[in-house]
Amino acid sequence: MKLQKIHRLNGEITVPGDKSISHRSVMFAALAKGTTVVHNFLQGADCLSSIACFESLGVPVENDTAANTVRIHGRGLYGLKAPKSVLDAGNSGTTTRLISGILSAQPFTTILTGDASIQKRPMARIITPLSMMGAHIESQNHNGCAPLIITGAPLHGIAYRSPVASAQVKSAVLLAGLYADSPTSVLEPALSRNHTELMLSAFGADISSTKNDDGSFTASIKPAHELFAQEICVPGDISSAAYFIAAGLLAEHGSITIKNVGINPTRDGILRVCDAMGANIRRENIRTEGSELTADLTITASALKGTVIEGELIPTLIDEIPIIAVLACFADGTTVIRDAQELKVKESNRIDVMVQVLSSMGADIEATDDGMIIHGGKPLHGAVIDSHYDHRVAMSAAIAAINSDGITDIQGADCIRISYPAFFDDLHRLCV
Ligand code: S3P
Repeated sequence: MKLQKIHRLNGEITVPGDKSISHRSVMFAALAKGTTVVHNFLQGADCLSSIACFESLGVPVENDTAANTVRIHGRGLYGLKAPKSVLDAGNSGTTTRLISGILSAQPFTTILTGDASIQKRPMARIITPLSMMGAHIESQNHNGCAPLIITGAPLHGIAYRSPVASAQVKSAVLLAGLYADSPTSVLEPALSRNHTELMLSAFGADISSTKNDDGSFTASIKPAHELFAQEICVPGDISSAAYFIAAGLLAEHGSITIKNVGINPTRDGILRVCDAMGANIRRENIRTEGSELTADLTITASALKGTVIEGELIPTLIDEIPIIAVLACFADGTTVIRDAQELKVKESNRIDVMVQVLSSMGADIEATDDGMIIHGGKPLHGAVIDSHYDHRVAMSAAIAAINSDGITDIQGADCIRISYPAFFDDLHRLCV
């Protein structure tokens, strides 16, 4: 994909449904009694992997792709069937980790794998707590990664202290906790996205979350007898909106409105960072859709200044750090990102890859052990970019490209279909 400078962006878009919420809607609905209807489902490759896995487990799913509406005919907590072949989670870490929590309690053995990237991502972080609960999980290549061989077993409740603030780890353990013989809790050092807590509660689970005196958080769940089907309206994904927030701030002229964006406080770190950088973003029509806070955002070109991003803010913007690095290149002064070592185990090593990408475009950026330091204000120029087949790297590079001199060629840009199939259509719409 070849891109060049765009001077003016103007107009209104709606970004696709939230990826985390779309995944969870399929999984929780599969375990519920009755038919769940999901509106504004993200038709990205990752969420389609979740649908395919549950279909293989015997859950009927009707996906009306034209209307973005999915109907999941739940099988109940004990109604999943042994899959006939290996489950393929594709590129999706959320599918792999969350489904492992569910499979740990089923009365059959499943082999779960994914693409080359998934087979390198750390699964010990879920194998450890799920094994403490009594699950039998083996990494087929004995390297702590997928393929995983999961044999369901009777599970016991645990009080797990997670070393990382990870919603995927937390959710895997809480889902296993639905099947345990006593309550289960997960303590995390900072609050990661809480969609599982909000949505499982709506499906009828007894689940709660508390802030501890030392700033850590504990989510607790009681064993469940039944979950109940829901009607879900998925808000627009703030992680997808982030690219157009950045595009609107960096454009020389114009203003962009993004309708119906999820602004759950465990996900809105990008907005808080933009505020700190001096961005002009208006939040309007703030409302609650189901259990999720949403708003319309209007973004106007702004002069940005550098900032420091660290600590408990990190889990609230973990997927947005690649695009924040792009913003920082155009800001006045230095931006420091620390406490973000989790970036190394995403779809690519996002610290090294973003430093490579932005350096090759002329940025003054260096990698640190747990983040990056970016001295902003140097003009960027076009380059040939390797996306490393990481959708967030490819979209971040695209926004850098439309603010750079010359032509940028992003190789492997088709990975964008993982989370935002219509990304280039929306960009095009804002240009005309
Ligand atoms: C996700 C949690 C985050 C995030 C990922 C989606 C989720 O991962 O990076 O894109 O849906 O729970 P971690 O839990 O590993 O931080």
